[in-house]
Amino acid sequence: MKLTADPSVISLAGGMPGSECFPVDQIRAITEDILASGRAARTLQYGVTTGYNSTREAVRGYIKDIGVDTESIENILIVSGGQQGLDLMCKAFLNKGDVVLVEDPTYLAFLQIVAGYEAVPVGVRSNPDGLDIGDLEAKIKRYKPKLLYVVPNFSNPTGKTYTAQNRQKIAETTAKYGVVIIEDDPYGRLRYEGEDVAPLYTFCGGNCVYVSSFSKVISPGIRLGFCTGPKEIIRKLEIGKQGSDVHSSHMSQLIAEQFITRGLFPTHLNYIKSVYRAKKDVMVAALDKYMPAKFKYEKAQGGLFIWGGFDEAAGIDTVELFPRAVEHKVAYVYGNVFYADGSGRNMLRLNFSQPTCENLEKGVKALGGMFNSAAAYKA
Ligand SMILES: Cc1ncc(COP(=O)(O)O)c(C=O)c1O
Repeated sequence: MKLTADPSVISLAGGMPGSECFPVDQIRAITEDILASGRAARTLQYGVTTGYNSTREAVRGYIKDIGVDTESIENILIVSGGQQGLDLMCKAFLNKGDVVLVEDPTYLAFLQIVAGYEAVPVGVRSNPDGLDIGDLEAKIKRYKPKLLYVVPNFSNPTGKTYTAQNRQKIAETTAKYGVVIIEDDPYGRLRYEGEDVAPLYTFCGGNCVYVSSFSKVISPGIRLGFCTGPKEIIRKLEIGKQGSDVHSSHMSQLIAEQFITRGLFPTHLNYIKSVYRAKKDVMVAALDKYMPAKFKYEKAQGGLFIWGGFDEAAGIDTVELFPRAVEHKVAYVYGNVFYADGSGRNMLRLNFSQPTCENLEKGVKALGGMFNSAAAYKA
C-alpha cells in the first residue's frame, strides 16, 4: 500500500469493485424510503445479533436460487461482511495449535485470521479441477484438521472454479473424517462465461457452512454478509458475534433485503457483469500482447482476478521485482502471500475490476515492459 500510494502508479493489486458498479440511485431510494417510514426509529436503534428476521428470510430466498436450501431462518446468521463470517468460524472452532486445511494458494486474509487464533494453516495441493483429493485425504489423516477452508468459485487469487465432481469428492472425503468445511463464496454470482456449478454446500450433509456477502454484488462499504449452516453451528457463531459487534448495521441489512425483495438483482448483476467481462477481456488481450511468452496465466471465467506466473526455472522472483514494477508505475500482488508455506514467488495476482479499461491496458503494458527487461536481465 505504501509503495503504491503514488497516484501515478496503476494498481492492479487491489481486489475492489469498480466504483462505476455501485448502485447509488437504488441505495438512495431505499434509504430515503426507510427513513421516511414507520421503521426509521427501529432502524436507528440497537437490535438482535442474528439480524432482522425479514433480512434472514430475504437471504434465504436469495441463496435458494443457487441451490442453498435451508430449513428455516435459524440456519442463517447476518454478519458484517463475509470476513466476519470467516473470523467467527475460526473463533468458534480453533484453539492454539489446531490445523486448518486450505487450498494452496488461498485467500490471504483468511491466513491472517488463522494466524490471529494461533492456529496453523496447512496447504492442500490443487489442480485444474479443484483440490487434489489424494492430498486432501492424506493431510486429513496426518493433521486431523478442525476445518477445511475453500473458495470454490472464481477463487481469490486463482480465479479457478472447482468442478462438480471435485466438489462431490470433497464432500465425501470430509464427511468420512468429520471435518467441517467453510465454503467462502463472495464471487459466485460474477460469472462471465460458462455454466454455474452448484455450491459445495449442496453436496454436503451438514458439515459445511456457506459464507457469502453483498460486497462484490452491491457494495463492500455496507459491510453485509451471511453464514448458512447447521443450527448448532449458527448458534455458536451468534454467541461469538455478540461479543464482537452486537449486530450488523440495520440500514445495511435493509438495503440488502430491499435489493432482494424489490427484484433489483437481475438487472444490476447483468450490468456489473457486462462491465467486468469487458474489463477482463481488455486485461487478457493486453497480457497476450505485452507479457513475455514465458508468462502463463489462467483465463478466469468470473470473479475479479487473473492469476499467472513463470516456471520456477525462469528464475523470476515477483517479490524481488515488485519495487521495479512500481518504478515502471504499476503494482501487482506477489504470489507467495497466498501460500500457507510462503512458496509461489514465481506467481502474481492481477485485478481487473477496479482500474479503468485505459489503465488496464497501460498497466499491463508497463508490467510487460518490466518483465521483458527482467527476463533479459536474468538471461
Ligand atoms: C475470498 C474472499 N473471501 C472473503 C472476502 C471478504 O469480503 P467481505 O468481508 O467484504 O464480504 C474477500 C474479499 O475480498 C475475499 O476475496
